[in-house]
Amino acid sequence: MGYSKTILVTGGAGFIGSHVVRLLVNKYSDYRIVNFDKLTYAGNLKNLTDVENAPNYAFVKGDICDREALKNVFEEYNVSDVIHLAAESHVDRSIEGPMEFVMTNVVGTVNLLQQAKDSWNGEGNHVFHHVSTDEVYGSLGDEGLFEEITAYDPRSPYSASKASSDHFVRAFYHTYGLPIKMSNCSNNYGSHHFPEKLIPLMINNIVHKKPLPIYGKGDNIRDWLWVVDHASAIETIFHKGRVGESYNVGGLNEWTNIALVKHLCRLMDQKLGRSEGESEQLITYVTDRAGHDMRYAIDATKLESELNWKPSVTFEEGLDHTVDWYLNNSEWIEEITSGSYREYYESMYDNR
Ligand code: NAD
Ligand code: TYD
Repeated sequence: MGYSKTILVTGGAGFIGSHVVRLLVNKYSDYRIVNFDKLTYAGNLKNLTDVENAPNYAFVKGDICDREALKNVFEEYNVSDVIHLAAESHVDRSIEGPMEFVMTNVVGTVNLLQQAKDSWNGEGNHVFHHVSTDEVYGSLGDEGLFEEITAYDPRSPYSASKASSDHFVRAFYHTYGLPIKMSNCSNNYGSHHFPEKLIPLMINNIVHKKPLPIYGKGDNIRDWLWVVDHASAIETIFHKGRVGESYNVGGLNEWTNIALVKHLCRLMDQKLGRSEGESEQLITYVTDRAGHDMRYAIDATKLESELNWKPSVTFEEGLDHTVDWYLNNSEWIEEITSGSYREYYESMYDNR
C-alpha cells in the first residue's frame, strides 16, 4: 500500500514513545510508523505488543549515534517525517554519568538532524518534530510559569544535554531551513513508565511495602501531565504547529513531591484494601538530589489558544487509570525489576 507519510519515531520503545507509536499506528492507517530504537535499559518492545503486528508498523533496532544505521533506515523506508524522542531521560543517572547523555541526546540528535537534512535535501513536504522537556528552562521560585520565551537555564547534566539538543534543532532550522517543530513538556506519568521515575517507583514500592524514598524535604514541585495527553499534544503540534516554532505542553497541575506521594498512598490503600494511613508509614526521607531543581510549571497557553489542544483528564482521573494499569500488569514491572535494574537501584541507595 502507498502510505501518505512514513514517520520515523525514535525512542518508540520507551515510555512516551510507545504511547506516540500506539496513537499514530491506530489512528492513521495511511501512515507508516517506523520505530527506531536502540533498546537501552529503558526501551521495551513489550510496551507495544498491542500494535506489533499492525501492517503500518515496523521496528528497526538501531542507535541514533550510528550515522550508517540512520542512512539505511531513511533509504529503506523513504522516511518523510521524524518524531524524535530517543534520549537518556533520567536526571539521577545523568548525575552518576553524564557522558551517555551527551552521546545520545546531543551527538545522536545532531546525527539525526544531519541525516534528515541530507535525505530531504531541501525538497518536498517534511516535518522534524523534536520532543523536549521543560527542564531546559531551569528552576522556578514560588511564582511564575515557564513560557516559550523563557531563557534557557539548564542545571542538571540531563537538562543541559536536552537544552543543547534544542539549540541544535533551532540552528538547523535557521541555518539550513530544516522544517523543524519543537515541544517542551512537563513531567509525564502513566502506563509503561520505567520504575526509576517518581510515580511508578512509588507505586511499585507501595505494592511491595518497601520504603518510599523522598529526596530532601519533599517540597520540590513538579507539574504533571498524563502521557496519553502528551502524545495527543505531539500529534497536534506535528500536524498543525507552525514550522520553526516551539510549544510548551503542560496541564497546570502542580504538586509537591510529598503531597503527591501521600495522595498515592491514600489511593492505593483503598485499592489494595489496606487500612487508611498504612502505606504512608513507608515514607522515608533520604539525602537530597544534587542540584535538585525546586519547581517546574508550564504555561501552555500558546498550544491551547493557537492549536486548540487541552488535556483530556484531570490528574485524579489519570492517576486512577495509571494505578489500575500497574496493579493489572504486575508481570510488566516484575520483569524489569528482577534484572540488572535491581542492581542499579540498590547501588543508588547504597550510595546515600
Ligand atoms: P525513556 O527513557 O522511557 O525512553 C527513551 C527511549 O529511547 C528508550 O526506548 C531507549 O531505548 C531509546 N534510546 C535511548 N538511547 C537511544 C539511542 N542512542 N538510539 C536510539 N534509541 C535510543 O524516555 P521517555 O520518558 O519516554 O522520554 C522520551 C522523550 O521525551 C525524551 O526525549 C525526553 O527528554 C522527553 N521528555 C520526557 C518527559 C518525561 O516526563 N518522561 C517529559 C518531557 C519530555
Ligand atoms: P523524576 O521522576 O526523576 O523526574 P524529574 O527529576 O525529571 O522531575 O523525579 C520527580 C521528582 O521526584 C523530583 O523532584 C525528584 C523526586 N524524587 C524523589 O523524591 N524520590 C525518588 O525516588 C525519585 C525517583 C524522585
